[in-house]
Amino acid sequence: SGPAVAELVAGRVLDVPDFPKPGIVFKDLMPLFADGAVFREVVDGIIAHHGRESFDVVAGIEARGFVVAAAIAYATGVGVVPVRKAGKLPRATHSASYALEYGEATLEVHQDAFTAGHRVLVVDDVLATGGTAGATLDLVERAGGTVSGFTVLLELAFLGGRERLAPRPVHALLTV
Ligand code: PRP
Repeated sequence: SGPAVAELVAGRVLDVPDFPKPGIVFKDLMPLFADGAVFREVVDGIIAHHGRESFDVVAGIEARGFVVAAAIAYATGVGVVPVRKAGKLPRATHSASYALEYGEATLEVHQDAFTAGHRVLVVDDVLATGGTAGATLDLVERAGGTVSGFTVLLELAFLGGRERLAPRPVHALLTV
């Protein structure tokens, strides 16, 4: 159930002070990924929330979004598209720059990554300011997809990411 999965996330997130910059508290979910039973429950919880008929493909955001997106894709039988940091993709890309909680970054997706009209579930580990997810929304739409929603394990509500992505639906297993 929702509250049980939220507790699993709460129990497996480590706060790392001053990473990657002084004053930032990094939310490290790698202990959750490393626990096979918990990881499976978390992925199953995400799929149960959205329903396997609600998306045609998943987009995973570098780097930890890849881990979760691939698991959702495998379990539901859909494909997975990587949204990558600048300079990593080998063919023609769309590119979107955004301000991060700490610094600035550019994301890219292959121009032919999505079938026109396909419903794309965007997946990441953490939603903070929403800059990353907002840039991904822009990329998916420019590449011909339609974002059905965003899903994250952990939402830092005080940074306003959900408001930035409105009216698109955002689902977080745990919101703090
Ligand atoms: C983290 C996290 C999200 C993003 C959320 O990634 O995994 O992708 O920040 O922040 P935002 O909502 O304020 O944009 P990070 O920048 O650490 O990149 P990495 O996954 O490549 O390490």
